Amino acid sequence: MIDSDTFRSVLGRFASGVTIVTARDDAGQDHGMTVSAFCSASLEPPLVLVCVDHAASMHGLLLGHANIGINILSSLQEAYSRRFADDEDQRFDGIAFTRGECGVVLLDDALAHLECVITEHHDAGDHTVFLARVERAEPRDGRPLLYYRGGYAQLER
Ligand SMILES: Cc1cc2nc3c(=O)[nH]c(=O)nc-3n(C[C@H](O)[C@H](O)[C@H](O)COP(=O)(O)O)c2cc1C
Repeated sequence: MIDSDTFRSVLGRFASGVTIVTARDDAGQDHGMTVSAFCSASLEPPLVLVCVDHAASMHGLLLGHANIGINILSSLQEAYSRRFADDEDQRFDGIAFTRGECGVVLLDDALAHLECVITEHHDAGDHTVFLARVERAEPRDGRPLLYYRGGYAQLER
């Protein structure tokens, strides 16, 4: 089996976008975290997947709450990516957003929003893979925020 440094180094060479996954708890409190392990899983039906660390504070919430928002970040939202990955209590303070039909936070100026319903989850080592059906989705014009080899990058075209 390969060592974790090699694994990180190799996987870091797969450039990705960055998302903020949002959900609401039973008390109506918003939660959100930065997730780059996001991709499409099926076209018909439209399914996406996100992988969430067992240690993430949202992990338990996602196991019990089906509705999530997925915000694909634009190149102007690197600060959001940092904020939703840092040890910060008030992640939504001062951030402009609207709510989807099911109440989840959809960040203003994101490159795209998806409103999804989690349909399945599977344990995968120290993460859980959540499969979610896309109920609504909205693209915007703009440029993506990229993540590559442990740092942020911009598209050059
Ligand atoms: C660019 C970036 C991508 C990340 N992608 C993921 C991911 O796909 N899955 C995950 O569980 N954590 C990911 N993280 C780490 C979480 O965002 C981070 O651990 C966060 O603090 C977890 O939320 P919590 O502090 O509320 O537990 C990523 C962090 C960054 C900066």
